[in-house]
Amino acid sequence: MNLLEAREISAGYGDVEVLRGITLSVGQGEIVAIFGSNGSGKSTFLKVLAGTLRQWGGTVHFKDKRIDDLPPEKRVEIGIALASEGRRLFLGMSVEENLLLGGWCRKEAVKERVDKVYSYFPELEQKRKSLAGDLSGGQQQMLSIGRALMSGPVLLMIDELSLGLAPAVVERLSEILLRIREEEDLSILVVEQEVSLALEISDRAYVFDLGEIVDEGTSRELISRDSIRRTYLSL
Ligand SMILES: Nc1ncnc2c1ncn2[C@@H]1O[C@H](COP(=O)(O)OP(=O)(O)OP(=O)(O)O)[C@@H](O)[C@H]1O
Ligand SMILES: [Mg+2]
Repeated sequence: MNLLEAREISAGYGDVEVLRGITLSVGQGEIVAIFGSNGSGKSTFLKVLAGTLRQWGGTVHFKDKRIDDLPPEKRVEIGIALASEGRRLFLGMSVEENLLLGGWCRKEAVKERVDKVYSYFPELEQKRKSLAGDLSGGQQQMLSIGRALMSGPVLLMIDELSLGLAPAVVERLSEILLRIREEEDLSILVVEQEVSLALEISDRAYVFDLGEIVDEGTSRELISRDSIRRTYLSL
């Protein structure tokens, strides 16, 4: 049984269809990456999974239950969390206030969750009283991921992991994600434009183009495939 199964998802904005028949799964404990050209529908697909955009057709199952009718907050409660593209932090609020907002559905264990997030990202604890708007880009990404972790997810979705960040920060984030997967026993679905990074950190990957999946496979297999190396890795 897969943790998440999306089948034949179509969706769009107004009368413009963006996603056309996306079928994608995430297994328990897997890290799955999505990459592909700008505007190919990666963020739109994560919004459909998070429930902030209603799909036009297709189904989403999570832990074997159909969830595509659930509103976004219910999906958070059952364990689906999204760290959005652009991070969407409350920039005028402190680091800790941002984290506490992420823990709204875990009232009882909220202090433990905050401590857990600080154990992954010690720099957030040092900056707990600073405004989110005063953090560096890397720290803001940590806060965005930390806030998503506050709800105690089973599936953590991250839209654009490395965008705008220095290589050393990306390296650290990747290591922390692997640690989080172990310690929290969760699965990760990550959209990553840097294809070499996407394939390095994931077990499997899907390639989006114009709202469709044009390639998929284990990351080890994709990284050695000529068409992928030529198109996405410039090798
Ligand atoms: N809120 C919106 N209203 C109308 N069209 C939108 C909206 N958001 C995205 N689109 C359009 O949907 C298409 C897919 O966008 P989406 O953001 O899902 O792509 P993406 O793969 O995440 O791209 P990027 O790599 O730039 O983040 C694009 O043509 C985009 O212009
Ligand atoms: Mg996007």
